Amino acid sequence: MKIARFSRIGFILAAAGSAVGLGNIWKFPYIAGEYGGGAFVLVYLATVLLIGFSIMIAEMLIGYLGRRDTVTSFEVLAPRHKNFWKYGGFQGLAGLFIMIFYSVVIGWIFNYIVTSLYTLPATVNEAEKTFTTMLHSDFFTQLFYHTLSFIGITYVLNRGIKGGIEKLNLILMPLLMIILGGMFIYATTLGAFSQAVEFMFAPDWSKIDSEAFVIAVGHAFFTLSLGMGAIMTYAASLEKDSSLVKAAFWVVFLDTAIAIVAGLMLFTFLYQYGSGPAKGPGLVFISLPAAFYEMGILGNIFAVLFFLALAFAGLTSSVSLVEPMVQYFIDRFSWSRLRAAVAMGTFFWFLGIFAILSNIDGAKEYLTWGGKNFFDWVDYFTAAIMLPLGGLIMAIFVGFIIPRNEVEKVMRPQLKWAFNAWYFSLRYVTPVAMFVVMLSLMGVI
Ligand code: TRP
Repeated sequence: MKIARFSRIGFILAAAGSAVGLGNIWKFPYIAGEYGGGAFVLVYLATVLLIGFSIMIAEMLIGYLGRRDTVTSFEVLAPRHKNFWKYGGFQGLAGLFIMIFYSVVIGWIFNYIVTSLYTLPATVNEAEKTFTTMLHSDFFTQLFYHTLSFIGITYVLNRGIKGGIEKLNLILMPLLMIILGGMFIYATTLGAFSQAVEFMFAPDWSKIDSEAFVIAVGHAFFTLSLGMGAIMTYAASLEKDSSLVKAAFWVVFLDTAIAIVAGLMLFTFLYQYGSGPAKGPGLVFISLPAAFYEMGILGNIFAVLFFLALAFAGLTSSVSLVEPMVQYFIDRFSWSRLRAAVAMGTFFWFLGIFAILSNIDGAKEYLTWGGKNFFDWVDYFTAAIMLPLGGLIMAIFVGFIIPRNEVEKVMRPQLKWAFNAWYFSLRYVTPVAMFVVMLSLMGVI
């Protein structure tokens, strides 16, 4: 049914492109800052290895065996109760929901690329003013860049798996790694580098409580793009006879390495030129530009390169967030790719307008309920409920529903004990962990 297929390297880069996103470069450093560094980072790393890696393989496996859009893949792989299990595939909607705010944030980044070309804020106060002015009163700038992001993403999706998604990742991912790698090497030459290392890796266990633990698990999911069928959709277009374990390993490795490299680099700059590890979402948009200012003209160059890298990371993730639903409409309703891409794009573009408005003075009053605005609600609903739920469904589906011999046939395990450990963790460890995480993110426990 589908003709275009990823090459093996194309698949790994596309899946890594999906995983490496705003979560790695924007969110990871600021939550690491918020929860005190060291111990939090270690918990996150442990979760990525113990839970993330095993669900990554499971999600790939469903797509790889199913070979169709997410809904149909669940349907064809469920030996019984097809009509029940196919709802697992509607997890793909989470991606479209995430895009509602993701695209707006990419818009902010575009705006910062342009303004960093000629000016940087001289102080943190000034930087804060610039950011909050954009956020609270500059509707049209945000709309303009959000629209630009929508056009770019829709254009790439319309070009399909090979000529669109694979190509985008083959170009942007190496550029992203070169930019971050270069800036990282520069950071290692600065005196503050050792402080950054200490902050990220010296564990202070007293700072870890159950909340930090849950945030670390939730972030492991978000950053690996798990639980909503992005990786599954890509795996449906993977060449036969590929090793899922190897592919999953590379994706997890690249995602983690890039988060750590970005974190060390940012904290080095913040220690050296700024006010130390800042907390909260403003880290990249407020504290960092002010630190770049202190570096003179090099700071301008770094700022532009950094925001470019951030935009690249965001765009390669965006296409993976929208592609599952695009495939769904192509596969199930025989829509043309153009129609599916434009329809899905229009969906997140339109709702994105409300995400912008929910921070704008004069409008936000109407878009805030129960202490959270529309923007935050979408973030919360997807991260706290949809993704962990998706992970739970996938673990159970591979652990209990797909017959074990079929799973084994694909995995061709060379190490029996490793296979058994993975299978056991899918069946018992992951579902329980996900359930607990979900309840506590929702505030039930
Ligand atoms: N992983 C991306 C990030 O870190 C975001 C993302 C892309 C995502 N695709 C996803 C999150 C699918 C959850 C599910 O920014």
